[in-house]
Amino acid sequence: MLNGKKVLFSGMQATGNLTLGNYLGALKNWVNLCEEYECFYSVVDLHSITVRQDPTILRQRARKLLMIYIAAGIDPEKNCLYYQSHVSGHAELAWILNCFTYMGELNRMTQFKDKAAKHADNINAGLFTYPVLMAADILLYQADVVPVGIDQMQHLELTRDIAQRFNGVYGDVFTVPEAYIGKVGAKIMSLQDPAKKMSKSDENPHASIYLMDDPDTIMRKCKRAVTDSEGQILYREEQPGIRNLIDIYSACTGKRPEEVVKEFDGKGYGDFKTAVGEAVVSVLKPLQARYEELNKDKTYIDGIIKANAEKASYTATKTLRKVQRKVGFPDRVR
Ligand code: TRP
Repeated sequence: MLNGKKVLFSGMQATGNLTLGNYLGALKNWVNLCEEYECFYSVVDLHSITVRQDPTILRQRARKLLMIYIAAGIDPEKNCLYYQSHVSGHAELAWILNCFTYMGELNRMTQFKDKAAKHADNINAGLFTYPVLMAADILLYQADVVPVGIDQMQHLELTRDIAQRFNGVYGDVFTVPEAYIGKVGAKIMSLQDPAKKMSKSDENPHASIYLMDDPDTIMRKCKRAVTDSEGQILYREEQPGIRNLIDIYSACTGKRPEEVVKEFDGKGYGDFKTAVGEAVVSVLKPLQARYEELNKDKTYIDGIIKANAEKASYTATKTLRKVQRKVGFPDRVR
């Protein structure tokens, strides 16, 4: 509990360009969570360097991500939006938790196996202990809930195991976090292969709509979306492409899939795709405009970065000092 509310923590990497899927599936739904939870959203740059990054690009993307969050409507006065690297407690707690995590546990992490296969020339120790750093992120803020996708569930389970193990030795130090199960956002699929999730790292440029795409590009991508030869706009598994477009339209307009089906009864795919494109444009346009405004206001963004890093550090340091004391580090002389 913090300020009378439960704590919610999530981290995101500033690698790749955010897609419409990230927005409709996550961001958009995070806007109101601060009414119920004390929310921390960290740009996890320490995690990003587990694979090689161009320093200039990483720095730019980290700032861009922070601004996109604000542009999407996450209020930086009510939510703590900050860079992980600005709060030294993440790395410090990660070290301690490394000593409470077994090699065997980390060896079982499927994301490690996938990334090790993908970056065979750079299987570094940081990539291996990545989940421990993630545990540190979460436990540092005594988070009650963590909104994560299915791909991060195994890491969250490990976080719970580490917390319980530590608590078993030293008493109740950490809150044991749970997955956030609230209203989940729409799961948006690739426009070129509706069996795959829309991804920021897809090589096919037509597969994903990026948050910063201009209206023409958005319309073009929607019109090229892969569909089928059924010729009917129905919400069913046999028509995954159309189903995905219905999900997108539905998430953009707030209409339920059944209503969308009714609205386009008897219409052709061409008309429907145009309507989907227009709906997406009308959602992304204000976000882009707000982003451009923020991008011009360096002083304002710098102020947010500084204030939120301080706010995060305050909570993080409280947990860290407690942990350091528990494991037997000497008290600081004041
Ligand atoms: N590993 C997460 C991802 O790639 C990002 C992340 C880092 C995170 N620390 C976190 C997510 C803490 C939730 C909570 O998606």
